Parts: sequence; C-alpha cells; structure tokens
Amino acid sequence: MIQAASERKGIILAGGTGSRLYPITLGVSKQLLPVYDKPMVYYPLSVLMLARIREIAVITTAEDRGAFQRLLGDGSQWGVRFTYIVQPKPEGLAQAYVLAEDFLEGAGSAMVLGDNIFFGHGFLELLSVADARRTGATVFGYRVADPERYGVVAFDHAGKAAGIVEKPAQPPSDFAVTGLYFLDGSAPSRARDVRPSSRGELEITTLLESYLQDGLLTVEKMGRGYAWLDTGTHASLLDAGNFVRTLEERQGLQSGSPDEIAFSNHWIDSQQLAHRAAMFGKNAYGGYLDRLLEQA
Ligand code: TTP
Repeated sequence: MIQAASERKGIILAGGTGSRLYPITLGVSKQLLPVYDKPMVYYPLSVLMLARIREIAVITTAEDRGAFQRLLGDGSQWGVRFTYIVQPKPEGLAQAYVLAEDFLEGAGSAMVLGDNIFFGHGFLELLSVADARRTGATVFGYRVADPERYGVVAFDHAGKAAGIVEKPAQPPSDFAVTGLYFLDGSAPSRARDVRPSSRGELEITTLLESYLQDGLLTVEKMGRGYAWLDTGTHASLLDAGNFVRTLEERQGLQSGSPDEIAFSNHWIDSQQLAHRAAMFGKNAYGGYLDRLLEQA
C-alpha cells in the first residue's frame, strides 16, 4: 500500500560552526563530512523521508550553501523538493523557525539537526505517531550517560514532561532531548518571542518551554533499542562511522540511503533508481542500488 505523504514540511539544520571538530571544519561543513560511506547529512535527511516528508528546507551557512546544493540538488532525484535557506550566523536552533517561516507557510514541521543519526526498530511507527499529532510539539527523550551535555527532561510523578533544562549541572533525569522536533504551525511565531540566552543563542529549550506552558508538549521516550548518535566531536564522529559500518557489513543493508527510501516510498521508479545506480558505477553504493532493482 502506498501511504500518503505527510502534510508537514521538513527542516534540516545544517549550519553551525562545528568548532569542536576544528581543524577539519575550518574548510568544510561538519554535515558534509563522511559517516563511514555517506555524507553526514544523508542520515537526518533519511529520517525526514522515512516520515514521508517531501518539502524540505536545508539551512546552511552562506559559505557552505553551494556545496550542499552540489550534493543534494533540487531533490528531484529522490522525489522531494529542497529549498535552501542561509543562516547568516549560528544564533541558535530556535532561529531556524524564524528563518523558515516563509517556507513553512503556516504548516507543521519536523526539524532534524544535520549532525544527528537515528537507528532502531520501530522508528517508522514512532515517527508516524508524532506526525499524526496535529497540534503541539513532540520531541524524543533518550537515556544518555552524560545528560549534563544536553537539554534534559524533568518528569513529574505521572511520567509527564514537567520541564526541560539546558545543560544542567544537576540533571533532573538521564533523558536528553534528541535533535528531532515535530512542532505545529505556531512554531515561527513562538520562536519570534524567544529572547537570546546568556550564551547569545535562541535556545530550542525556550521554544519548547512555550509549548510546555500551554500544555502542548509531548516527550516520547526512545527506548534502549534505539541508537541516537551525534557526531560533534572527533571521537563521536569516528564511533558513528564504525557503528554504521558494523551494521551495514553485518546486515548487507544500507542505513541512511535516501535512494533506497525514495524507491521504497514509491517516490521514484525503477528507471530513476537505475539512473542513480549508474552514477555510482561499480562501487558498493551503486552495487547496493543495483541489488534493490533486481529484488524489485
Ligand atoms: P552544535 O553541535 O550545538 O553546534 P556546532 O555544529 O556549531 O558545533 P560546535 O559546538 O562544535 O561549534 O549544533 C547542533 C547542530 O545544529 C549542528 O548540526 C549544527 C546546527 N546548528 C545550526 O545550524 N545553527 C545554529 O545556530 C546552531 C547553534 C547549530
């Protein structure tokens, strides 16, 4: 059965300075670096495509915009449409909604950070539950060993989210908020009311607080069967690459392939996939796409 496309629009936030990865990111955007066999941005893009989102804004720095356009094009090769938006300065995650206001045209959205990688059984269902919620905000809480590095969820006795604290010295729980946010159409106007924090950023936490205050924030727990990796440091980048390699070599399946998802969503046909496969020639990625065609 062919499922309908989501009514949401997607945002991939791929600006930032990537200063923790210096000197690598002095010359290239973090989100264009390889995670094993694919550019990092393929992984968050795949999440939006799995959520059946076809209208996607890619937010980049002015310097890197051309490189993202070379890599991703207009999206027609995958049956999606990309709009490129420049973030002049990395002034915080919530700023994405202000920059994307015209693009969103009042629609709900799913935003994913360009350096976040998700993997796990049942992810599609998790995404479709969040997608189906027409009003309010849905974010995902993931248990981490070092919550003080993240926005952390405080839960009340009923297990409902009671607050989110940014990088707390004394974390109220071990659940970090991941870089995937399903927000309704009110996000841009709420984001315009967010004032810069002491570190000078428009914090996503403040934006989520505004939903929480209105009783409109849902935090879904992402269980221990999921992997949520971020790739912001040298070690975590290498770990993510090794993780993807291990999975792919063990299963013989690609993770984070927009080509495969576009094909299985019926957004591209065999001929279009064959064209993509030919582009990659005899390398492993091209061979994988050839095998998908044979199996189809
Ligand atoms: P961070 O990892 O917080 O920031 P960064 O990528 O600039 O890296 P560093 O801390 O090493 O300097 O950002 C998380 C993601 O959000 C990442 O994909 C970059 C993106 N981002 C923006 O696009 N704009 C912004 O204003 C910020 C703060 C982040």
